[in-house]
Amino acid sequence: MINAPIHPGDLPHEAAPAAAGLPVTPLCHAPQAWLPEDFVPSACQLAAAHFALGTDCQGGADIPLPAELEQASRQRRAEFAAGRRCARTALLSLTGRPDYPAMGPERAPLWPTGVVGSISHCRGHAIALVGATDRYRGLGIDLEQPFSTTQSEDLGPLVLARGESAPWDAALHPFLVGLSFSAKESLFKALFPLVRRRFDFAAAELIEWDLQGHAVLRLRISLGGEWQPGLRFPVRHCRFQGLLLTRIAISASPVSARGSVA
Ligand SMILES: CC(C)(COP(=O)(O)OP(=O)(O)OC[C@H]1O[C@@H](n2cnc3c(N)ncnc32)[C@H](O)[C@@H]1OP(=O)(O)O)[C@@H](O)C(=O)NCCC(=O)NCCS
Repeated sequence: MINAPIHPGDLPHEAAPAAAGLPVTPLCHAPQAWLPEDFVPSACQLAAAHFALGTDCQGGADIPLPAELEQASRQRRAEFAAGRRCARTALLSLTGRPDYPAMGPERAPLWPTGVVGSISHCRGHAIALVGATDRYRGLGIDLEQPFSTTQSEDLGPLVLARGESAPWDAALHPFLVGLSFSAKESLFKALFPLVRRRFDFAAAELIEWDLQGHAVLRLRISLGGEWQPGLRFPVRHCRFQGLLLTRIAISASPVSARGSVA
């Protein structure tokens, strides 16, 4: 078991602000009340929302859909708008301005000057994490449905780097394949805006983890500049609404002597 599941009734919700065409209910942004203490990195802001799948969603007058999504499925439009609304709420808490990021090249959100952040959505839940660039160079967050045994058997060979699974208990395999997958997605979202190149799951390996919400990814390949093999990225993980939630925060400080970035 990782951190205890959180039940919707436990969450301190606030009424979602009215926004035409946005089937997003409710929006909650008091993460310290329902996430482990150190999940939200220092001085960052996080917002989460539940949204209705299959409901038509044009984005709302305040969050227009980008041209790329005009022909997208209802689900895709709904998740995009929900993610942007979370980003806007988190940005309002961080900067005092209700901005939201446009969609940039390769889908990377274009954050306002002085801000880094990340967005994820899964199964009707959306979440956004933002922080200031004087504290963080990159942030990555990812929500995933826990893997079944079948999924972990199917996806394990794609997700796990060579040797990554060797010491793992077979009974924990679905959890660990899911954790490796989600942590690597978080790493990709945090690093892509810095390295400006795509990389796959073999680029990093999960070298430490526990059931209390901590893990470490280690880079296996060079991504240019200071992003060299051996660099360690601390990961936090927890349960959120029955889903697995991971995040990575890359500090603005130079890479430490231990090769760790946070
Ligand atoms: C882009 C990717 C990370 C999205 O992950 P996902 O599980 O499909 O979806 P999520 O809901 O968790 O995240 C989607 C959000 O990620 C963000 N995102 C997408 N591409 C991104 C990029 N290049 N850089 C940063 N953030 C990105 C976007 O905000 C997107 O939501 P939006 O399109 O509504 O704005 C994934 O599809 C992908 O391409 N991964 C690359 C392979 C990989 O992870 N390798 C591991 C490296 S060790």
